[in-house]
Amino acid sequence: MYDTVFKAATTVVEGRVVVRDVGVRRGVIEKIGAITDAAAALEVPCEGRLLMPGAIDLHAHLREPGGTRKEDIASGTAAAVSAGITTLLEMPNTNPPTITRAALAEKVAIAKRTGHCNIRFFMALTARNLDELEQAMDDPGFAGIKVYLGSTTGSILLTEFDPLTRALDRIPALFAFHAELESVLLDHRDRVPDPQAGDHHRLRPPEAVVEGTRLVLGHAATRGRRLHICHLSAAGELARLADATTGSRVTCEVTPHHLWFTHKDTAVKGNRLKVNPPVQGPEDRKALREALKNGLIQAVATDHAPHTVQEKDRPYAKAPSGVPGLDVMAPCVLRLVQSGEIPLPRAFQVLCENPASIAGLSTKGRVEEGRDADLALWDLDATWTVQGKDLGSRCGWSPFEGETLAARPLGVWVGGERRV
Ligand code: DOR
Ligand code: ZN
Ligand code: ZN
Repeated sequence: MYDTVFKAATTVVEGRVVVRDVGVRRGVIEKIGAITDAAAALEVPCEGRLLMPGAIDLHAHLREPGGTRKEDIASGTAAAVSAGITTLLEMPNTNPPTITRAALAEKVAIAKRTGHCNIRFFMALTARNLDELEQAMDDPGFAGIKVYLGSTTGSILLTEFDPLTRALDRIPALFAFHAELESVLLDHRDRVPDPQAGDHHRLRPPEAVVEGTRLVLGHAATRGRRLHICHLSAAGELARLADATTGSRVTCEVTPHHLWFTHKDTAVKGNRLKVNPPVQGPEDRKALREALKNGLIQAVATDHAPHTVQEKDRPYAKAPSGVPGLDVMAPCVLRLVQSGEIPLPRAFQVLCENPASIAGLSTKGRVEEGRDADLALWDLDATWTVQGKDLGSRCGWSPFEGETLAARPLGVWVGGERRV
């Protein structure tokens, strides 16, 4: 007897699109194949529907503690689930920042009380917290180590590189980099007189991430470590990754906003598209889409970074950087499937399989017997024109308003339990 049987669902098994029954028991996918009608406590008819693993977001800022007017763990995880994401890795630039075991424990406790999906927490590397990081590593709530090579919203900038080399030598965890390099940012800070939102990409030019990527590739080579670069934004970064002989040791992610927009959109949308690293030119967007298709980029991640409308409505120089993304990540990728830009199995890879393997989540990310029943049911024929009122994030706005994406899921299960 299964708790739930998904009947005749379209899904992807071992890279191929197939139609199968999927039987779930005690939160685990127990059988994929033909399942007789009597064998289910609950049957979900899935003819013509897509059954995908819950998406895994490697990069979300949920603002708790310290910024809960923008978002908190309850509202962020609820927004994630309603958009087909069932696992999140959360970022450490909260207030206080997640740089101690105590701060990690506080987040884990809040998530246990209020969270709606699986969540783990990055800690940030500072000049002084190596021991804390080393001891936090075995905590099941620990996701990895975030390294800020340049300053950004509420950041914990790493100002010297010696702690990084020591951390890489000592701690066998996932390292994720915000790769805009501070020296390049400082060099360009005052280049535009009276800058506006449409100039944001000039103050933080592609060179900043190209140089940061070079530094990360160097560490991957000399330390023999697998490293991860967040939110790719520029064709130059991709060229560096493609050239690197150590390429396979570095994984990377791209956000929905970098796949969708360019600085021409920032000139129109203003601070609502002010984000670090900035969205760059049309040729950068084109290169990012191409790399998502051909595998040079392994994952899509939101970099969900909500701010209030009031904060975004300030003048350019005073408005915080960051855009929300949980509501739109999977709908963006499935929109690319609908328009024929990427094949369906590739969407499963970049939303589920690859993030699971990058994060070391060996029981997640695939429709496979023995894996966790974190699942989302989609109507791949349906579309959604994004409107503020539909959004789950507490911030209540999105740079995607007015864009047409794939419709959000019809049902979502976390550990076999229906949440949507
Ligand atoms: O635009 C950004 N906003 N980039 C970051 O790196 C941080 C983020 C935030 O937390 O708001
Ligand atoms: Zn970042
Ligand atoms: Zn971020």
